[in-house]
Amino acid sequence: MAVLNVNIDHVATVRQARLTDEPDPVWAAVQCELAGANGITTHLRQDRRHICDRDVRLLKETVACKLNLEMCMAEPIVRIAEEVKPDQVTLVPEKRAELTTEGGLDCARHKKRLAEVVRRMHKKRILVSTFIAPDTEQIIASAQTGCDAIELHTGMYANAKGQRAVKMRLAELEAGKELAAENKLVVHAGHGLTYRNIGAAACINGLCELNIGHSIIARAVFVGIGQATAEMIRLIDKFSG
Ligand code: PXP
Repeated sequence: MAVLNVNIDHVATVRQARLTDEPDPVWAAVQCELAGANGITTHLRQDRRHICDRDVRLLKETVACKLNLEMCMAEPIVRIAEEVKPDQVTLVPEKRAELTTEGGLDCARHKKRLAEVVRRMHKKRILVSTFIAPDTEQIIASAQTGCDAIELHTGMYANAKGQRAVKMRLAELEAGKELAAENKLVVHAGHGLTYRNIGAAACINGLCELNIGHSIIARAVFVGIGQATAEMIRLIDKFSG
């Protein structure tokens, strides 16, 4: 059965819109956890556009469930992860101009750096996941560099238009999951998942963690973050159970 990690970055996005101290993503994490989230996911971007260093440090102190830190492999960020020691890091590519993480990490191209980051994270007992497209080369590179898990990029599925396209994207995710499992990788998924499209994704047998942010925070504006989290958990349980 899949479990939910709530990405709380957008709580900090609202705070940063006024460069003030509210809403606090640390409070949000508490509410998500109380509502049953398996984990809290947060992305410390190099430009600190939403989550900042203080948030990550406080989340490490306060999150009792899993803390999953999304990050790129730039040296200053890797050093912060070594210091803070989240339970897991999810390695992502990062472009300054993007609105959100656009593509998956090119693990094959950055194999040497990836292997080094994996080694350093493991030394601190931090699990490593790579955010990748359901692509053979990327899955194999993640396995060869010693990663513990991969997060399959569900953005193409989320953006697919029409039944045929949706089916094709789901088949790609299914095949990626199979290959990853054969290579002893734990399989997560995320990006672009919503209350409407979660059903078919959660049905993919063997997905362990689902990382969802935007849709939950958007709903939270109207119903509160606890209810928004609980509603998503109910859907995931219904389809993946
Ligand atoms: N997984 C990864 C690796 C991400 O970068 C993001 C976005 O920060 C998510 C999941 C969550 O995506 P969304 O906000 O579309 O649910």
